[in-house]
Amino acid sequence: MVDKLRVGVLGATGLVGQVFVSFLADHPWFELVYLGASPRSAGKKYKEVMKGSPPLPIPEHVLDMEVRRVEEVPKDVEILFSALPSDLALSYELEFVKMGYTVISNASPLRLEKDIPLINPEVNLDHLELIKLQKKERRWKGVIVKNPNCTTAILTLTLKPILDEFGIKRVFVTTMQGISGAGYPGVAALDIVDNIIPYIRNEEYKVENETLKILGRLADDGIHVANIKVSATCTRVPVLHGHLESIHVETIKEVDVEEVIRVFEEFKGPPQELNLPSAPKKPIVVRKEINRPQPRLDRLTERGMSVVVGRVREDHALSRGVKYIALGHNLIRGAAGIAVLIAEALLKLEYI
Ligand SMILES: NC(=O)c1ccc[n+]([C@@H]2O[C@H](COP(=O)([O-])OP(=O)(O)OC[C@H]3O[C@@H](n4cnc5c(N)ncnc54)[C@H](OP(=O)(O)O)[C@@H]3O)[C@@H](O)[C@H]2O)c1
Repeated sequence: MVDKLRVGVLGATGLVGQVFVSFLADHPWFELVYLGASPRSAGKKYKEVMKGSPPLPIPEHVLDMEVRRVEEVPKDVEILFSALPSDLALSYELEFVKMGYTVISNASPLRLEKDIPLINPEVNLDHLELIKLQKKERRWKGVIVKNPNCTTAILTLTLKPILDEFGIKRVFVTTMQGISGAGYPGVAALDIVDNIIPYIRNEEYKVENETLKILGRLADDGIHVANIKVSATCTRVPVLHGHLESIHVETIKEVDVEEVIRVFEEFKGPPQELNLPSAPKKPIVVRKEINRPQPRLDRLTERGMSVVVGRVREDHALSRGVKYIALGHNLIRGAAGIAVLIAEALLKLEYI
């Protein structure tokens, strides 16, 4: 058997970190050898310092692993998955890239930089070619790749087949985002129970701008962003996990609802073609029932790696277009799950 690649998780005790651990603990290509967190958790067993309740089961053999400080990453770890808070991520992640590690990060800093791949694997895996530009311009010993903001990951996965088939002029999206999207301990119960908060700091900017980069075209000098207008309104709702999005898309060509359903159902990307271990069989699952998707019923579809779409209808208020509801698990499809998929692609495509 070929040796597994040694990997570690920064921010392993948090909500995204726990999904990383769940995906990596028994991974066919990776061996999880390092769990990093703050000095508060360092030196303790993983099971003693995990925050909240894990969104996916954590295999028994990891529960007794010792959590270590971020400064104690072993030298022979090859990939570091980062689930550090945004305000700490930049300095730590850059330090690790300069030391020669491959870093795959969930945190927002650097996502929009021209030589940093921002990857949603089914949508724009070809943007990994930016690694060559990054190596040339920065001369870091390692490499850094970012995955998108959770809301953007869900949105762009559903926009990609529409863009390819019909072209897109404008997108209007209103989100209803689960509490775990804010990390642990997140929003105070007294603020969110029996309530909706119609504002999430920086979220609309991220959705509007990351979408254009992800749907953009790779060129020699970086990504030429997509010529689409995106308008986002983001809200926090009293749901534990899962972001629901109400999406209206104005297309360039005429659209037909049945055709849109067909392109959703038939959609596959490079992770499916490459048969990557964490790739869902169907990245987009269409529910025909009038009252689906629902967070509690649908967020764990294909282990949380699929986006579930429903209520696909014509949008009569647009010159031509459709509207639909999309749901994705923010911690899995919107975070750790796609970071693991990116790592699998890096290995399969021999970037590392
Ligand atoms: N939640 C989501 O749906 C989501 C989606 C996409 C992207 N993201 C991004 O992913 C990252 C992690 O999010 P999360 O929701 O998992 O956050 P979280 O639950 O708050 O977890 C934060 C993690 O960072 C560690 N940490 C905190 N301070 C530290 C320090 N001084 N040194 C080292 N480690 C430290 C924590 O360790 P301790 O337990 O020891 O404090 C914990 O493991 C953030 O950048 C977030 O924006 C989150």
